[in-house]
Amino acid sequence: MNAEGRDRLDRMPQWQALARHREELGEVHLRDLFADDPGRAERYTVRVGDLYLDYSKNLVTDETLRLLRELAEAADVAGLRDAMFRGERINNTEDRAVLHTALRAPREAVIEVEGEGGGNVVPAVHAVLDRMSVFAEAVRSGRWAGHTGRPVRTVVNIGIGGSDLGPAMAYEALRAYTDRDLDVRFVSNVDGADLHEALQGLDPAETLFVVASKTFTTIETITNATTAKNWLLSGLGAGKEAVAKHFVALSTNARAVEEFGIDTTNMFEFWDWVGGRYSYDSAIGLSLMIAIGPDRFREMLDGFRTVDEHFRTAPPEDNAPLLLGLLGIWYGSFFDAQSHAVLPYSHYLSKFTAYLQQLDMESNGKSVDRRGEPVSWQTGPVVWGTPGTNGQHAYFQLLHQGTKTIPADLIGFARPVPGLSPEQAAQHDLLMANLFAQGQALAFGKTEEEVRAEGVAEEQVPHRTFRGNRPTTTILASELTPSVLGQLVALYEHKVFVQGAVWNVDSFDQWGVELGKVLAKRVEPALTEGAEVAGLDASTAALVARYRALRGR
Ligand code: F6P
Repeated sequence: MNAEGRDRLDRMPQWQALARHREELGEVHLRDLFADDPGRAERYTVRVGDLYLDYSKNLVTDETLRLLRELAEAADVAGLRDAMFRGERINNTEDRAVLHTALRAPREAVIEVEGEGGGNVVPAVHAVLDRMSVFAEAVRSGRWAGHTGRPVRTVVNIGIGGSDLGPAMAYEALRAYTDRDLDVRFVSNVDGADLHEALQGLDPAETLFVVASKTFTTIETITNATTAKNWLLSGLGAGKEAVAKHFVALSTNARAVEEFGIDTTNMFEFWDWVGGRYSYDSAIGLSLMIAIGPDRFREMLDGFRTVDEHFRTAPPEDNAPLLLGLLGIWYGSFFDAQSHAVLPYSHYLSKFTAYLQQLDMESNGKSVDRRGEPVSWQTGPVVWGTPGTNGQHAYFQLLHQGTKTIPADLIGFARPVPGLSPEQAAQHDLLMANLFAQGQALAFGKTEEEVRAEGVAEEQVPHRTFRGNRPTTTILASELTPSVLGQLVALYEHKVFVQGAVWNVDSFDQWGVELGKVLAKRVEPALTEGAEVAGLDASTAALVARYRALRGR
């Protein structure tokens, strides 16, 4: 690994070559790039598993791609990737291995972690998966009985961040594969309204709480889990002994689980080498596994693994995560793109972009490099987006005619999910027609001449002209299956990895979330007890005083 020893990114000749190339490209337009290169649409594609990526509508030439690959080579992305897969401690600020890829390794694989608690991690991964499978089947079949002997009808997952976004996203994405007799709800916000709504209509005797927290110290999760426990016990009129049948924990922290009152025989463990935002294919996916069943869950893991293998072995020209990562770097630093839109044309992917926000922004929202030196290049973009076609009627105006460069990923599927009525399934072509049309309109726009040729009055022409030249990558898959979801998630995980490796930031820590947590703990007594809080700035102190007055305190 050369992370500490390498040159600063902006001093690398490969970076400087890209800067010169950008100048040479000038105001290049996708219309010209396509006109000059008839083979472009076919050549600028890559396949991985069931995913087909068309990146031809990006502002790149063969030369750009060559220079970007040279940059990746100089930054030793492949070296860091191999170190990650080998279990080296590449999360240097936390001195941890980064091994989410071990969560989907086959049973016979050997992946050794260095140091204390090290050794081959694969047997433990499969032991937990096997225990999860037995438990999930017991719940699904009704064999798992609650305190009063009744089967579970609702699972409430309590977690936040990676312990919520992943399973919640995947549950939505794979709705078509879920057992519709079992309801799964997700509670994350410390706003009591979240739990209040999730508990509506529930019978405690038929409710299972899955408390998901890597650290088991996260204030939101512990607060909600405590309130849920009290709701359960008072609803059942039972003592602490009822907890065992209604609460399970997903965590790395057995001691805290026990202190909370959950029997550790009802705990499904994972390990410090799994980052929260990379964890929904670990025990953190238990609620999802209960919903879709162990077989489907394993199909999803196979999908992840397909892309892991591709990332590890595909040559740079055909390496999909590498390409996506490099394109993002190109736009961020050489087109001043500040954000990246992810636009899935699937109702079931309604939470996909929110999930990616944590994956990408918590990983690469950094402004010092691995050595702690300030970076002078753009790092992670603002990731945003919602499913098409809804976004088209909301913010696409800005995508088409605004002043900003916003690269976008358009994600779609050839077939609708199973279970729709023939009439509902027939709507799929219209959905996909919109995806393809948006990619075309964004790239090629509509020239003034074309607008005039339609007989539009001259003063209207500027308003109705579309500059185009707005880059998109289209990701097309056959169908949104568990395996394809795993492939998509792994694709973005590794894209984020590539970018962090080139930017030379530690993509696996998240120190930036700490300060707010500490301050919230400090401010709370000021709200509740009117306590004097040292160090409150004048604005915050005034807000606290106003809040207390409004609460009549
Ligand atoms: O606050 C950020 C964070 O640490 C995330 O990285 C993590 O996914 C989330 O909180 C929840 O943490 P935990 O699973 O330990 O409750």
